[in-house]
Amino acid sequence: MALSQMLSAKLIGAIVALCMFARSEAGDFLAKRTRIMQMTEATAEVIFQDNALWRRPILVFFRPEASTRTREEDEVRAAVDQLDKRFFVVFSGDTTLTELKLMNTMGLFQGEELPLLGALSFDFHQDNPKADFHSFRFRGNITRQAVLEFSEDFLGGRLRPEGQLSEPLPPAESERDGGVQQLVGLNFDKVTKDPEKDTLVYWYADGCGWCAQFKKEYKRVAARLGHVKSLNFAWIDASRNGIAQPKRFPTVALFPAHGKQVPASKEVPFWNDAHLQAVEFMGDILKGEQTISAMIDWLHKEAAVPFEDTPPAPAEEEDQISMLAVDTNKDL
Ligand SMILES: *[C@@H]1O[C@H](CO)[C@@H](O)[C@H](O)[C@H]1NC(C)=O
Repeated sequence: MALSQMLSAKLIGAIVALCMFARSEAGDFLAKRTRIMQMTEATAEVIFQDNALWRRPILVFFRPEASTRTREEDEVRAAVDQLDKRFFVVFSGDTTLTELKLMNTMGLFQGEELPLLGALSFDFHQDNPKADFHSFRFRGNITRQAVLEFSEDFLGGRLRPEGQLSEPLPPAESERDGGVQQLVGLNFDKVTKDPEKDTLVYWYADGCGWCAQFKKEYKRVAARLGHVKSLNFAWIDASRNGIAQPKRFPTVALFPAHGKQVPASKEVPFWNDAHLQAVEFMGDILKGEQTISAMIDWLHKEAAVPFEDTPPAPAEEEDQISMLAVDTNKDL
């Protein structure tokens, strides 16, 4: 991170002094009063560099940009007053580069609906023993009581960290929902790298308002092309699986069959410079028939295996059957 270069030496000095103060037993700043820090470059410095010394856990509340104070913010503030003082409490947004980096670090994504609550721990966690820190996400209605319970569970090591995780593999009978395969972290690579299939993946996430609506449209495309054996329609909950995370939601991309190369200009932009051989669908979504035909046109361009829009006409089969019937009669 080049953050430190952007801070004046004087400011760093002040922060370090503050940290020393907070750390000293005599003047335990945090024990005396609750401190809420606003996420800035200087705060990032404290959290990620200076904090490395004493690894204090961090509770982060991402609040919407809007000027009106939300009920959730009031609840969080009320909880913070009662909270274990071993925390840093940080308020953030989703606007500045520093804020976005924090979201990304915590496995939260730009475009998710705020407010969001999460926590970062620098302690060892058996689920992901090699990680330097672990991110936890609060799910549910943000109330004072719920925030207190979340922080207790967090400090007590009872939460599972985000990232590097997978939902369980779906049982075979529920693996497909209307022709769409449910992917999880555990089967993502295997399915998307199937050399025989052009695999379409739809990434959705918590707090993405359009995602649920787009699911319906996506299913309609899957149904329309249900006869195409070389095409596999899949989707994945990016909030619950440690896979490459697209920079926006919803994202749809095609992993072409037969190792067909994807030019860099068509790749999906992922966080952490992840590169997958996947072509992003750039058309408009939630436009009904217009979206469906745009996706089908796009699939014709990008899929490695050519396909027909319509299933083989059943009428022909009937003809063949009746001809057979005639033949059989002749024989008799
Ligand atoms: C969340 O909790 C608040 C306070 O208890 C309540 O007023 C609100 O209706 C709850 N919202 C939901 C979606 O449950």
